[in-house]
Amino acid sequence: MKRLVNTVMCVCMIGSVGLSTATWASDEAATKEAIKYRKNMMSAIGGHMGAAWQIIEGKVEHKGDLAMHTQALQVLSQDLVRLFPKGSDKGKTDALPVIWEKWADFEKISKQASEYADKFARAVADGDSAKISQAYREYGKQACKACHKDYRKDKKKK
Ligand code: HEC
Repeated sequence: MKRLVNTVMCVCMIGSVGLSTATWASDEAATKEAIKYRKNMMSAIGGHMGAAWQIIEGKVEHKGDLAMHTQALQVLSQDLVRLFPKGSDKGKTDALPVIWEKWADFEKISKQASEYADKFARAVADGDSAKISQAYREYGKQACKACHKDYRKDKKKK
């Protein structure tokens, strides 16, 4: 039994040494993960937008899912700025350094994005299909495009 306890303690200690080494591991690794996380979150937003549009356009019969997509978008669009820690313009990213130079404006656009997500969700809750389609387009233009236009690398220009 004592041997077992010793072994467990030993494994735990190795584990914690491993952990602290991981914590020391360069900021570079943390930045890499932050960028990856941001891209995953953006892809999630893009996925819900794409799926919502298929429903709005009547391409698929999943009307019952629309409210779920708008709710997900509301949650995902909250506090987008937290996905942009300082220094995360370095690496495999399309985020432009100007984000951190014009931080106040970037914050404003992020907040606006969240407001348009709320508006889109309200339109879906009201159920008027013309207004839903309008709110969707507005959200895409005033949130996604408004931000990507100035703050994301234009892939065509590369
Ligand atoms: C406040 C700014 C901002 C808003 C609002 C915003 N995005 Fe983005 N988005 C970015 C930036 C910056 C990138 C580049 C991220 C990177 O490469 O690190 C990006 C990247 C993406 C990507 C590519 C992800 C990848 O894997 O490279 C998708 C898809 C995307 N956004 C969809 C959307 C959609 C859809 C909306 C609107 C519902 C939206 N975004 C709103 C700033 C924004």
